[in-house]
Amino acid sequence: MSNYHIKSLEEYFKVYRHSVREPELFWSEIAEEHFTWRKGWDNILEWDFNKPEIKWFEGAKLNITENCIDRHLLTKGEKTAILFEPNDPNEEAEHISYSDLHKRVNKFANVLKAEGIGKGDRVCIYLPMIPELAVSMLACARIGAIHSVVFAGFSSKALATRIKDCDAKIVITSDGSYRGQKTIDLKGIVDEALKQCPDVASVLVAKRIKSDIEMVDGRDKWLQPLLDEASDECDIEIMEAEDPLFILYTSGSTGKPKGMVHTSAGYMVYTAYTFKNVFQYKNEDVYWCTADIGWITGHSYIVYGPLLNGATSVMFEGVPSYPDFSRFWEIVEKHKVNQFYTAPTAIRALAKENLSYLEKHDLSSLKVLGTVGEPINEEAWHWYNDNVGNKNSPVVDTWWQTETGGIMISPIPYVTPTIPTFATMPLPGVQPALMDENAQEIKGNQVEGMLCIKYPWPGIARTIWGNHERFKNTYFSAYDNMYFTGDGARRDATGYYRITGRVDDVVIVSGHNLGTAPIEDSINEHPAVAESAIVGFPHEIKGNALYGFITLKETGESRVQDNLRKEINQILSEHIGPIAKLDKIQFCDGLPKTRSGKIMRRILRKIASNETDDLGDVSTLQDPEVVENIIEGRIQ
Ligand code: WT7
Repeated sequence: MSNYHIKSLEEYFKVYRHSVREPELFWSEIAEEHFTWRKGWDNILEWDFNKPEIKWFEGAKLNITENCIDRHLLTKGEKTAILFEPNDPNEEAEHISYSDLHKRVNKFANVLKAEGIGKGDRVCIYLPMIPELAVSMLACARIGAIHSVVFAGFSSKALATRIKDCDAKIVITSDGSYRGQKTIDLKGIVDEALKQCPDVASVLVAKRIKSDIEMVDGRDKWLQPLLDEASDECDIEIMEAEDPLFILYTSGSTGKPKGMVHTSAGYMVYTAYTFKNVFQYKNEDVYWCTADIGWITGHSYIVYGPLLNGATSVMFEGVPSYPDFSRFWEIVEKHKVNQFYTAPTAIRALAKENLSYLEKHDLSSLKVLGTVGEPINEEAWHWYNDNVGNKNSPVVDTWWQTETGGIMISPIPYVTPTIPTFATMPLPGVQPALMDENAQEIKGNQVEGMLCIKYPWPGIARTIWGNHERFKNTYFSAYDNMYFTGDGARRDATGYYRITGRVDDVVIVSGHNLGTAPIEDSINEHPAVAESAIVGFPHEIKGNALYGFITLKETGESRVQDNLRKEINQILSEHIGPIAKLDKIQFCDGLPKTRSGKIMRRILRKIASNETDDLGDVSTLQDPEVVENIIEGRIQ
């Protein structure tokens, strides 16, 4: 029996029980079995959820890149580590072997060192899905610098906020990016952002679209000539177990994004272990996760998890609709992909298209189909299972968060019997709890409540960069001695979990986590706007879309209102990014408020979802007429 790799249901239950009875022993067995340590740990776990303080493998020394790359060189040097599939199907795919990756990461690490970057420095990476993105992250990790990858769909303002929050010294970007038929001027966005960030001393620019961009003298440098000159040998920086590995921002219930901090040893152990089990990766397999590395899914399951297991990980630059909707399936056939991991929103978009896109490709290599990011609806689950998996590739509905570092609740394919829309059971080492309104744990099955985790796991984020108090308030204050996820969940008669969705002010749009507060803050900056409230409502493809209820300082005629709608969405594109645009904007005379002046979003959510028959308890409303007016003016 191996804790690290579970192969049967019987083994799952056995290992699970062991992980609850003796969690420290369980995790130390995994950590011993599979990794290269420069020094062993003195203490497996130190924790206190009330402070909160969580430390795994204290005293241990390691470098995650030695585990991702160097460790495989002897046996897998020539094996493809990263298989880069470009946006343009006519451009050749690039097979980067483990030994190529070793050289490329070392060169990049030496370039960073020459720029004065060292252990603990923050490096902002704003790159499209090109190999330099993975290489630069690993280069940071190799020298102990902390990477902060910002998704290249974020606007210049959002980028500036993230650069300033962690005080990044350097930005790595490219001249631009491809997205289907379009190109995007990434460097222009960086230039705009840096007007607000005087402390950024240098910008390294990768060449991708070969556009004619401006380089700021003394600040901007083309990357390639520096890489060409650099040595391909670079010793690892030996890291302490709890040294930060990276910061990744996620939105929350205030305007400021939260910089989740993940540390070296725990994140390594957790992503490696979860990748192995959830994808049942075998040595010759080709694995593909379609996420962008700018999100946690890409960090954990394009870069770190697969490489820690010596896997071949496909990295796709493009979009599912270019040149047409068969692109995903064409890539699966071309590279004989065995494990495929995507988001419900992508599945729904593809399911809307003609089946012939799919049918003309040989998908018989597929063995495991993963989904992540939001609850998957029954229809999408079946479409995925029946048409992509041909009913013989298990669908693994994986529930987790930026904060958890890796997958928490998920079937293990070929082990756990699946049921549509259920994330099924926690992985060994994960102890979920459902809580009621009185903050008491709900025991037993066939129950529903707020989803918490009651014991630490190695992949949990340790803090919010620069704001430990907020970390405590957001995740450890609602329930005593528990990590609160922000999600609701149901546990069925057999103990299977079904995630029902967010219970806070976060809306998941196309798999992207959007706080409503930052959106409202941005809208309120428009001079004509008095007040706004944003809620989510069900959307066929996006899962949820955004509905804005907005009051104006002066009510205008409809032509003026149409312009205002455009301006408001323009502001959101600039402040946050196009993903934050509102699908529906209703101008109203007033918003429903309690007598103490709090906006009753619960009511607005019902109106936006067209569930106005039962608005629930409205007895605390200041002015019931406001609600009637809003219902009347509801945008269809
Ligand atoms: C939130 C976390 C984890 C990587 C991508 C998102 C929702 C995620 C599922 C799932 C139902 C899911 C939750 C969670 N979510 N996976 N399989 N079923 N909901 O990371 O941006 O940090 O968002 O995504 O609401 O809290 P994130």
